[in-house]
Amino acid sequence: MELSPLQKARYSYKPRLPSSLRGAFGGLSCERLAPALPSSDQEALRSLFPRTYGLPSVRLKAGAEGSALSTAKRCVGVILSGGPAPGGHNVIAGIFDAIKSANAESRLIGFRGGPGGLVDDKAVEIDAALVDRYRNTGGFDMIGSGRTKIETPEQFAKALESAMRRGLDAVVVIGGDDSNTNAAILAEYFAAEGEAISVIGVPKTIDGDLKGEAIETSFGFDTATKLYSELAGNIARDAASGRKYWHFIKLMGRSASHITLECALQVRPNVALISEEIETERTSLSAIVGTIADSVAGRAAKGENFGLVLVPEGLLEFIPEMKILIDEINEILAADVEAFKALSSDDRRLAFVADRLSHDSKAVFEHLPEEIGAQLLWDRDPHGNVQFSRIETEKLLAEMVGRRLALYAKEGDYVGKYDFQTHFLGYEGRCAFPSNFDADYCYALGYTAFALVAAGLSGYLSSVRGLGAPAAEWSAGGLPLVSLMNIERRHGQDKAVIKKALVELEGSPFKAFAAERDEWALSSDYRVPGGIQYFGPPEVADLPTETLRLERRS
Ligand code: FBP
Repeated sequence: MELSPLQKARYSYKPRLPSSLRGAFGGLSCERLAPALPSSDQEALRSLFPRTYGLPSVRLKAGAEGSALSTAKRCVGVILSGGPAPGGHNVIAGIFDAIKSANAESRLIGFRGGPGGLVDDKAVEIDAALVDRYRNTGGFDMIGSGRTKIETPEQFAKALESAMRRGLDAVVVIGGDDSNTNAAILAEYFAAEGEAISVIGVPKTIDGDLKGEAIETSFGFDTATKLYSELAGNIARDAASGRKYWHFIKLMGRSASHITLECALQVRPNVALISEEIETERTSLSAIVGTIADSVAGRAAKGENFGLVLVPEGLLEFIPEMKILIDEINEILAADVEAFKALSSDDRRLAFVADRLSHDSKAVFEHLPEEIGAQLLWDRDPHGNVQFSRIETEKLLAEMVGRRLALYAKEGDYVGKYDFQTHFLGYEGRCAFPSNFDADYCYALGYTAFALVAAGLSGYLSSVRGLGAPAAEWSAGGLPLVSLMNIERRHGQDKAVIKKALVELEGSPFKAFAAERDEWALSSDYRVPGGIQYFGPPEVADLPTETLRLERRS
């Protein structure tokens, strides 16, 4: 691959570590804090995870208080899991540098193509030359990623065999909620088998929905939202220049609307839909279309026949009647998967599902444009999720708004011209060069992950906190994975999974948005954030997300 000037320049960026992690590795220690328990389903989780339930949170410190970290020779495996997020390579660089500063003879093995690489024992030794080629770069291409879920007894046995064959002391899983659920199950399995192979997770996902008290943000969110905000801001300016299109932008984020909310705070669109609010208010699809159509009509009355609408990727699942419909479809598909797969056309698949739906859901299903109905039946991912990135919600809304405006016009409530463009911003943000924030954060998460291994821990998520402050002041530690879990319905069954952190309507980012949006609905005063700055004054190069700034965690 020919290197771009930016790639060459980024090689010389030195990620900033929290001061508590600087200095000789052997001088670090681990302090055990109070046990961290899940917020619900405690009894069920205790019986499913008898060996990793109720572990204490831990904090890493410089100095001898607490138990000292071991500098014994280790062999660690690393897996990149799920969708890419900017900074994954720096997590690996952080693990690598920590391993080597603990003991120069220790080794890092990268499993290729996600968790499947561990099951099938496809791996590469990660050495200094390999790490150096990928420092501060985006992407997961150093070792590749995948969404294989380790769930059958054979897969677990094969994963253990690979780990034993390679002489692993630990596996670090860099992933989102589903991947870290897998990490928790693997940690319990290794412990149940009596094998001292520790499993540590690292919170990754551009979606920003793997977070909580001790996990202030998942890595990749900062870079991806900066990139989407830049693009949405540019589109807004194009809209205001050409004055002829309403732009409907669907933004990635499978379930939670954190990305949409952050981009809304950055760009100030005319409408931004927040799925969590729609679910709480039980807003119907018809009412959502009405909200957008009112903004279009209001702006047309001022002669402004253009605008910007932000739509979260996972919206449909949060609209009450659509959620019931999707749940019913999931159950139908799970109950008779072979019969469904044997059907040879969209018409037959639509009829198969329609015949099995309840009366109300059937009415909703049949009211949807056929192409959207068919998209709802496409394959779930290996974790049982609908693949919303493939459903054209932005087009559905843009078209339904057009129909609503025609009604308004008939009643004399709308005079204007409505033309639209649709966009989906998702994949273009997942492999960007990590922002300085993500470069630092990921490096610290990787360094911390190995420190947890060296502390002899398993079933933990690497946690770096105080992110509102400069990197030197961040604190590092670990959070038991089981403490993040609850029981949910997946693939028609109850499963223990890490709970997704959705947008909180009482949280300051949502409140800041809600306080401004009525004004934005009619205004053309968009904000144009511009591109990610990798060099320059801290006020542009180290800018935190609005979400983090408003949550003011330091
Ligand atoms: P993770 O949860 O694995 O980080 O993935 C996030 C995501 O980018 C979602 O926003 C999106 O819905 C999904 O991945 C798309 O997945 P795929 O890459 O399999 O198309």
